[in-house]
Amino acid sequence: MSKTISGFSKLSKSQKIDWIVDTYLTHSENAKQTIKQYWNTDKDLQQLHDEFIENTISNYYLPLGVAPNFLINDTLYTIPMAIEESSVVAAASKAAKFWLERGGFKTKVIATTKIGQVHFMYNGRLDVLTDFFNSIKPKLIADTAAITANMEKRGGGILDIELRNKTKNINGYYQLHVSFETLDAMGANFINSCLEQFATTFKAEAQHFDAFTEEEKNIDIVMSILSNYVPNCLVRAEVSCPVEDLTEKNGVSGAHFAKKFVQAVAIAEIEPYRAVTHNKGIMNGIDAVVLATGNDFRAIEAGIHAYAAKDGAYSSLTHAKVENGIFSFWMEIPLALGTVGGLTGLHPLVKLALEMLGKPNAKELMQIVAVAGLAQNFAALKSLTTTGIQQGHMKMHLMNILNQFKATATEKETLSKHFKNNTVTHSAVVTALEALRN
Ligand code: MEV
Repeated sequence: MSKTISGFSKLSKSQKIDWIVDTYLTHSENAKQTIKQYWNTDKDLQQLHDEFIENTISNYYLPLGVAPNFLINDTLYTIPMAIEESSVVAAASKAAKFWLERGGFKTKVIATTKIGQVHFMYNGRLDVLTDFFNSIKPKLIADTAAITANMEKRGGGILDIELRNKTKNINGYYQLHVSFETLDAMGANFINSCLEQFATTFKAEAQHFDAFTEEEKNIDIVMSILSNYVPNCLVRAEVSCPVEDLTEKNGVSGAHFAKKFVQAVAIAEIEPYRAVTHNKGIMNGIDAVVLATGNDFRAIEAGIHAYAAKDGAYSSLTHAKVENGIFSFWMEIPLALGTVGGLTGLHPLVKLALEMLGKPNAKELMQIVAVAGLAQNFAALKSLTTTGIQQGHMKMHLMNILNQFKATATEKETLSKHFKNNTVTHSAVVTALEALRN
């Protein structure tokens, strides 16, 4: 059977499945059953999911977990998290509880500006281009009136348009660099529509600008697109407490814990190999909430990692210090999030997740997401600098293996006890389970 096909998108869902099964999958009836067992019995709900993307054949489940006890600016939240990795939700919950008893998280939105750019080529005199830009700037804005009317009514819209000269990097390359306030919308559609209109107006008006030579009138638009780098859409999250309050029943003194914790953060600040893993742990929390609340986690990932390298080297997103006997741990990250539009009004579980969070506006969601990231990093560093990360991970690993072998509740209980004092490896668990079953 040929592995290429034309007109695939026009096939019905069951024809698509037939083609995939016939072309790639050996046990065709089992394969079909696997695909179909994830369909929702509610036809409307299934159709909703089918239409989120193209060529849908089934639904891909991720667990939706919740982490309670998050005290953020004196309000309590239970945070929804969609993630496949074990231990993440448990770690978030532990960090939430730890800080609940120590004053909770403090957060602040620093700025909410988003960016889009029209990239274009122009071969000619810069002063004439600058005159042209200044003369048509009001028209650029006026021509987007139909797109911006609603956003402006709510207090948002286009903040500024700048002409940027990038010819040092690429011959003839310039930009319209535009800043936006999109309020509770992530704003991708709004920004991209405005940019495409700017590009159309810019190119058309150049034809009538008398000071341009014929060659200069030939402005070549390369592309118009929002930027997912949003260093001025920034939120800060922080925890702090007297060092002695960090002391726990495990015998580790607050001062010792704080010292090792600050060292661990300092290492991630200067060592990229560590910083990437350190920040990955932060993204465990961030992505899970971003996904649960129907936002674009790829955009968030790209923007945050770029921000982590903003000073020229990839570095830790979090920082920590002890000053005058006070331990503080904080993070500032860019987050362009929406609580209206996109999936937020469509996906029933996203609606539920947002309701669980008290129907936050975008600024509130920025703060909640930042806290999830900071909490995750706190939990990871706390484990890493004390017991090591494997203790918690191996408990979950054990459960995953036992589930794989369909262990009963009694088998799980017996083997959990056994592996308290024995090292968890895949083969050790299988051997122990076999011994138990025989
Ligand atoms: C695992 O998903 C995340 C950690 O590796 C993060 C870290 O090392 O800080 C535990």
